[in-house]
Amino acid sequence: MSTSADIHHYIRTIPDFPKPGVMFRDVTTLFADPRGFRMAIDQLLHPYSGTRFDKVIGLEARGFILGGAVAHQLSAGFVPVRKKGKLPARTIAQSYTLEYGEETVEVHDDAVEAGERVLIVDDLLATGGTAEAGIKLMESLGAEIIGTAFIVDLPDLGGRARLEALGIEVHALCAYAGD
Ligand code: PRP
Ligand code: MG
Repeated sequence: MSTSADIHHYIRTIPDFPKPGVMFRDVTTLFADPRGFRMAIDQLLHPYSGTRFDKVIGLEARGFILGGAVAHQLSAGFVPVRKKGKLPARTIAQSYTLEYGEETVEVHDDAVEAGERVLIVDDLLATGGTAEAGIKLMESLGAEIIGTAFIVDLPDLGGRARLEALGIEVHALCAYAGD
């Protein structure tokens, strides 16, 4: 069986992107590798085996790639949380501060019904602003947030602590600290 430590091997680090001093953890190399991608999807689901989900919530953009595969594996539906202005029907919106600026995300207001059990998926947890926005959107719709799943955790940026303080379960496959 693979261990979470193997995941590091597939992630490429680009120094000084998108600005000097930032170590960018590039998961496209993980996505591109057949073994790495399957391992990532399997491991994202590991703590949730035997758990029933109605919907997987993917956070734009890289959360879509993972969330679609995770939803397929769970036989659950998939719901995109998109950057502002992309969704065609009636939406609810949530603004947040990002590591590199400010952003607003939206979800269709009929995408999740009250009481549905959801898993929120993204590639990376940094400050937690993106994930918290997704959590707030789901709470607004009355969803039951069973947990979250990420490939990469950057604990120095506080996202894990921020989500756990909200009572949200955080599952990440690997962490980079001390950058
Ligand atoms: C990155 C990453 C996470 C988010 C994490 O996405 O994919 O979604 O930042 O940062 P946070 O925990 O500080 O919110 P980004 O907004 O850069 O855009 P993309 O996924 O659309 O490329
Ligand atoms: Mg993102």
